[in-house]
Amino acid sequence: MALAAPNIPNPSELSRAVQEIENLDAMRSGLAASLEGRIEEPTMQTMKEVCRPVGMRAMQLSHENGWQVKQIAKKYRNPAHAPDNLHAQIALAKFEREPDLVGFWDRETIDGQLGTRYYRRIDVEASCLACHGLKESRPQFVKDNYPQDLAYNFDVGDLRGMYSVFIPDDVKQALQDATNP
Ligand code: HEC
Repeated sequence: MALAAPNIPNPSELSRAVQEIENLDAMRSGLAASLEGRIEEPTMQTMKEVCRPVGMRAMQLSHENGWQVKQIAKKYRNPAHAPDNLHAQIALAKFEREPDLVGFWDRETIDGQLGTRYYRRIDVEASCLACHGLKESRPQFVKDNYPQDLAYNFDVGDLRGMYSVFIPDDVKQALQDATNP
């Protein structure tokens, strides 16, 4: 007897999630690169506008789609970005071990809901070092606002962390819950 091939419950949601994460990652790289080329001393405001907007957009994507979109890192700056379960820890270790692995997905149960979780690696680029380079040279706003900061002393090409998108199988219900809490 032939077994049915396993299938992905929401293939179009998954491919949309992949695309949205590419857009989000390009947004961060673009913001960081625009800072790098600046001649004048960056102001507090321009300095703040690289990774926080990424977090805000992740939240917005969660609300709009019924997904759970996160950034996760072992060496995190914002403690909200620490690995949230064993799967996430294993995913980080896998990206660490396999430098050519860009992304993959997994089946997980989160908050009692079964779903598909997409993971995408984040590597360090030269433009990131202004804020994630040597500990002593971090901008003052980072030193002041992130007392538990671990996200420094990175080099170009290091694994910085990953994006994660959890798509519950019942994504319609999740979207309703997100829009009428
Ligand atoms: C202008 C300073 C600055 C630059 C440049 C910068 N970051 Fe960040 N990064 C931050 C701050 C501040 C946070 C914490 C944001 C928050 O509170 O959510 C952060 C958080 C992150 C996080 C979320 C995980 C965590 O540690 O909290 C990732 C991933 C990240 N940065 C990657 C990058 C990458 C990749 C680049 C280069 C393309 C980069 N950053 C460039 C300041 C910066």
